[in-house]
Amino acid sequence: MQVPETPDRPASSHPSFYYTPPLMTTSMHLTAKEERILAGEAGHGRQKAMELLVALGDIYGAKRLIPIASAQVSGASFKTIGDAGIRFLEDFSEHATVSVRASLNPLGMDEKRWRAMGVGADFRLKQARIVRAYRSLGVEPLYTCTPYLSGNRPRRGQHLAWAESSATVFANSYLGAMTNREGGPSALAAAIIGKTAEYGLHIPENRAPRVRIDIESIPEGLVPLAGYVVGKLAGKRIPYLPSLDLTPDQHKSFGAAMAATGAVSMYEFSCPEDRKKIDTSGIEEKISVPTTELASQAERLRGDDSWDLVAVGCPHCSRHEIRRMAKFLKGRKPANDADVWFCTSRSVYNSCPREVAVLSRFGKVLCDTCMVVAPIERLYKRTASDSGKAMVYLPTLGKQRASFRTTQQLLEAISS
Ligand code: F3S
Repeated sequence: MQVPETPDRPASSHPSFYYTPPLMTTSMHLTAKEERILAGEAGHGRQKAMELLVALGDIYGAKRLIPIASAQVSGASFKTIGDAGIRFLEDFSEHATVSVRASLNPLGMDEKRWRAMGVGADFRLKQARIVRAYRSLGVEPLYTCTPYLSGNRPRRGQHLAWAESSATVFANSYLGAMTNREGGPSALAAAIIGKTAEYGLHIPENRAPRVRIDIESIPEGLVPLAGYVVGKLAGKRIPYLPSLDLTPDQHKSFGAAMAATGAVSMYEFSCPEDRKKIDTSGIEEKISVPTTELASQAERLRGDDSWDLVAVGCPHCSRHEIRRMAKFLKGRKPANDADVWFCTSRSVYNSCPREVAVLSRFGKVLCDTCMVVAPIERLYKRTASDSGKAMVYLPTLGKQRASFRTTQQLLEAISS
């Protein structure tokens, strides 16, 4: 098959992008077509993407590239990628497009309600350049960390190149797909080539659990903190949680927190509907987590009692979660001076207008963004959230004094 030619741009512009080191060598086995892409015969954009994949493959000892079903690309907020990131994307976008389905993580603002969020015009202009570049690359503008709730839902056994940590752990653990936790550039490179290097969680033997963690029971509302604790205990080892009996939404919150405090993008659990056999022969340690440990963790993360912002939806709220919150708030009145953000995807927002209208009486229902990748440090100092992942990133990326409360506690605090 012929590799498509991409016309070169004059070498005078963006010299750093055009500089190509002497032909890259690799210990991976590449097909003839892949070799030609690496040699630049399919244009600079695809060459750069291939160089990145091959470099990663060599570092991690991959033998070959494998096709992927989809990519999830992170690095979409101006806050997280800055001016250097914009230049990188604009350069790339002139020379390449994705060749498999690829969806994009949240931006730094709601595309329609950025003013209401308090985002400045300078930030919005930079954000618009990022959006343009990704559109030109062909990345789908889902702007969510829950692409699996917005149409990009992988099937069991499919290989992916997903970057968003919470989505990666959900895809591996709940959906049974296979992906490493990519960086933004490597997920984009994989989307352009349509392949990724075969290492890590793409190899079945590497997906076996190494530590068994028995959680005695999880008190109401503390599932995110169970993930927070398990991530710390597991570290780099895939945990096996035999007694984890959660709803899909709870898996979403659990995994997000686990991937935030730990370094692993997968857990195994026993699921009554899924008779798959879990290979526990490699388990080297067993740990018990008493119920009291989760309550103590909640106390340690309690923080302030008054907040500038109450933020729900990390990961982005599902339709079911929006409905449940609206059901509770219907008939109640707003109370509390804090601003309130309910973060979700555009597709979920559009799918439940009546419930969104109820929530809108209590705060802003925001799409395309979240409390971590939006520039909240310019707007607020103390934020309360029901998310274990947010407890890790609000103090660091968001420069917030963060307080953990269960969803129910937050709903009660903002209403009477
Ligand atoms: Fe999603 Fe933002 Fe949390 S990207 S997982 S809502 S930090």
